[in-house]
Amino acid sequence: MRIAICPGSFDPVTKGHLNIIERSAKLFDVVIALVLVNPNKQPVFTAPERTEFLRRACADIPNVKVDSYHGLLADYARSVGACTIIKGLRAVTDFEYEFQQALINKKLNGELETMFVITDSNYMYLSSSMVRQVAQFGGDVTDFLPECICKDIVARLPRSKTTEGESVQ
Ligand code: PNS
Repeated sequence: MRIAICPGSFDPVTKGHLNIIERSAKLFDVVIALVLVNPNKQPVFTAPERTEFLRRACADIPNVKVDSYHGLLADYARSVGACTIIKGLRAVTDFEYEFQQALINKKLNGELETMFVITDSNYMYLSSSMVRQVAQFGGDVTDFLPECICKDIVARLPRSKTTEGESVQ
């Protein structure tokens, strides 16, 4: 059985993430969408919240499981017998960081390959941090978030006190 992992912070999961997971699910027997800790980021949502949103977003894809892990991706992959990590690439700017991670993961777990899936052009510009920022200032994020969790995510995101467009002076 070919098991792949789609890892990420998912803070929160966006339609861009979901598109990569759906496409990966067509290529592998099982795909694990995995919430991990990115030490370079301070998440807005807790790991259980991010995992729950991801679980609801993926509920209709039969061969996708959702999990969370505090530790090295390479170790998690070994523990579940996964052969591949799948990462979405939006632009050349993503590449250097992803390339470095792929090499480190390969060094830590020689059995593990990293595959890059080019993002759907509809989601080229999309990132969790952009979504959080738009929502923070009261913008419409319905095009960016999976429909079934959109309202709950927006309700739980912190809102800026100056959402009415007033001057900050
Ligand atoms: O969505 P992100 O924040 O770009 O995902 C990055 C993530 C969480 C996949 C990466 O930080 C990660 O793999 N974290 C787990 C710790 C780990 O294995 N680090 C070694 C690779 S640098």
